[in-house]
Amino acid sequence: MCHDVVFKALLSDFSADSKSEPNLVASTFEHIKNAKINLNTIDNLHVQCPPPWEEHQGAVYICIVMLVEYHVYQQLWYLIEGSAEVSDFPKEEAMSTEDSDVAAEKQRINAYRTSMLTSKDCTDSLLLVNLYKRYGSYIAVDHICVGVPDQECFGLLGQNGAGKTTTFKMLTGDVVVTSGNAYLKGYSVRTNIKQVQANMGYCPQFDAIIGQMTGRETLVMYARLRGVPEENIDYVVNSLIDILLLNPHADKLSEQYSGGNKRKLSTAMALVGDPPFIMLDEPSAGMDPKARRQMWNVLSQVRASGRTMVLTTHSMEECDALCTRIAIMVNGRFKCLGSPQHLKNKFGQGYTLIIQLGTLDDGSTAPNQPVIDFIAENFPGATVFDDHQGYIHFQVPDSGVTLAHVFTLMESIKENLNVQDYSVHQTTLEQVFLSFTRAQVQSKEDKSKSCMTKTCCCICIKAGLYK
Ligand SMILES: Nc1ncnc2c1ncn2[C@@H]1O[C@H](COP(=O)(O)OP(=O)(O)OP(=O)(O)O)[C@@H](O)[C@H]1O
Ligand SMILES: [Mg+2]
Repeated sequence: MCHDVVFKALLSDFSADSKSEPNLVASTFEHIKNAKINLNTIDNLHVQCPPPWEEHQGAVYICIVMLVEYHVYQQLWYLIEGSAEVSDFPKEEAMSTEDSDVAAEKQRINAYRTSMLTSKDCTDSLLLVNLYKRYGSYIAVDHICVGVPDQECFGLLGQNGAGKTTTFKMLTGDVVVTSGNAYLKGYSVRTNIKQVQANMGYCPQFDAIIGQMTGRETLVMYARLRGVPEENIDYVVNSLIDILLLNPHADKLSEQYSGGNKRKLSTAMALVGDPPFIMLDEPSAGMDPKARRQMWNVLSQVRASGRTMVLTTHSMEECDALCTRIAIMVNGRFKCLGSPQHLKNKFGQGYTLIIQLGTLDDGSTAPNQPVIDFIAENFPGATVFDDHQGYIHFQVPDSGVTLAHVFTLMESIKENLNVQDYSVHQTTLEQVFLSFTRAQVQSKEDKSKSCMTKTCCCICIKAGLYK
């Protein structure tokens, strides 16, 4: 019989008169001697003997930790599905509609010999070779190919659910690769995930911090894990706390951090130990503008010091400021690839012309129609993008229209059409992004989450969720 069951039965018998008993030890022995333990009493107490494996819980948990730590599940998976590394190519039609830069990069990567992929001398720090991930029947990442050279900051853009985090998770070994492979500094994520992780700093999208530790303690722990010499740890940790503006919060429990400060801590955790390759999944989400700009400075310096980065963000401004090359992902595929300026030149739709109308004598805004007519007449194909509160935004398609021509015409009508001010902008990265991401389809999972019943609300019907 289990000891604690006997003890509880004795205790229930004993508790009634224990207060009146002067000698507690003597009375306890007396009760043990006299106690009538019968199994019915024990049943009434609803006390169950713990299953035998509970006695070996510690050993079981250690085994589970070891299985996870040494990626045994992934290794078994790759052993069974090993051939998928080279099979399962994308469909012909997908390849035929591919952007020329994306296709050229795919061709370049596929031309690498295996010995080159695993070579330490390869000029690309990171190589994604037909990387593919399927969750059930849903394709999250669809045969992406790219090489990220040393000292590059590569931006991975795409709207929610495009497959950015899944790509990161395959590189960190969090999820198994369905087919294809990735190589970091020549190490394969399929066979050398430990070396891949040793060369990588990672800031996950959702903060992986231990709430019961302070920010400083967390960084010290990471510094030790990353092998920073003991005498340098204080200096390294204090520098990171300083540059990421975490000083006022460094000694607070991290569970008490605000969202933005948690992101700062996660970014610091990725940078600790100066890893050669850094992956940042939306590091600036929720940061205030000052902290965000400070983080940009830090990341620019980190890159200038010879590190390579891959960054995802929903801030086009951040991408413009940091990234040397960008890929926009839609439904798990790369839709375009190149420097921010290259993408603006290639996919930009001319200029954005913003006109501010003057006011009339009675205080009302000058009429907009004469201005709209003038622009339509002089810039064929120009469309009104937005028109409110005296500001008209035109999209002028770039069909040989020079900036000089735009300025000359605008100066000539300024007086007559009561134009108070105007500005001309090149197409922004945001407009390029929007032109691609309109094509994103909702995953099955997202669709089912969007609306619970077919009669829930007219908004869903209007939005086309039900046809
Ligand atoms: N464990 C999972 N099981 C099934 N589907 C998943 C799983 N994880 C992600 N997905 C699906 O894969 C797709 C890509 O998800 P992912 O998290 O990579 O998107 P993302 O580009 O990072 O989006 P966001 O910008 O919102 O972070 C989504 O449609 C998502 O629903
Ligand atoms: Mg994500």
